[in-house]
Amino acid sequence: MAGLAVNIDHIATLRQARGTTYPDPVAAALIAELAGADGIVAHLREDRRHIQDRDIRILRQVVQTRLILEMGATPEMLGIALDVKPDLVTLVPEKREELTTEGGLDLISHHEPVSEVVDNLKSAGIPVSIFIDPDIEQVKLAHRIDADMIEIHTGHFCDERSLAGKQKIYTDIVNAAKLASKLKLGVNAGHGICYTSIKAFAGLNEIDEFSIGHSIVARAAMVGMERAVKEMVDLIAAL
Ligand code: PXP
Repeated sequence: MAGLAVNIDHIATLRQARGTTYPDPVAAALIAELAGADGIVAHLREDRRHIQDRDIRILRQVVQTRLILEMGATPEMLGIALDVKPDLVTLVPEKREELTTEGGLDLISHHEPVSEVVDNLKSAGIPVSIFIDPDIEQVKLAHRIDADMIEIHTGHFCDERSLAGKQKIYTDIVNAAKLASKLKLGVNAGHGICYTSIKAFAGLNEIDEFSIGHSIVARAAMVGMERAVKEMVDLIAAL
């Protein structure tokens, strides 16, 4: 059965919207764990639009499952990761003007800086995942760069409205997951997954863990964090 890593960035978005001290993503992480999450994900962005440095440091102390730090492959973030020592780093592309992570990290154009960051993290004993589009060339490059795992970008699949378009992207996801698994890379999947779209991944046994944030936090605003996480855990268990 695949696991669920809960991304708590948007609890922090709500806090930053008013400059208050609440809601606290640390509290949300603890509730998510009690509700069955297998890991907690937080993206420390260069512009600190949601998660703050303080959040990462407290999360490191209190998370009982696994702390997954999402970050750009920059010297600043590398320094923080080496200091905090999360259980996994997921490298993502980052643009200041984007609403959210828009695509996978292109390992053709970013080969050098990504390789360097992967080497540094792995030398410090921190496993590394790379967030990539469902593209077999990118999977091969992630393997060559010596990443431990990939996270397949599911955002375009979830957003696509046409059936033919959805089928094409789904085939790409299946091919990427199968190749990664053959190359002994761990396989995570995430972005844009909601309580409906999760069902499309039934039977795709190569996926080790789903990384889901926005839909869970949005549901938590209505029904509470514990129930929102538990409902997603149950849907994944039924895949
Ligand atoms: N995986 C990665 C690499 C991401 O950047 C994000 C968004 O921060 C997610 C998963 C979660 O996406 P969503 O919030 O759409 O569930």
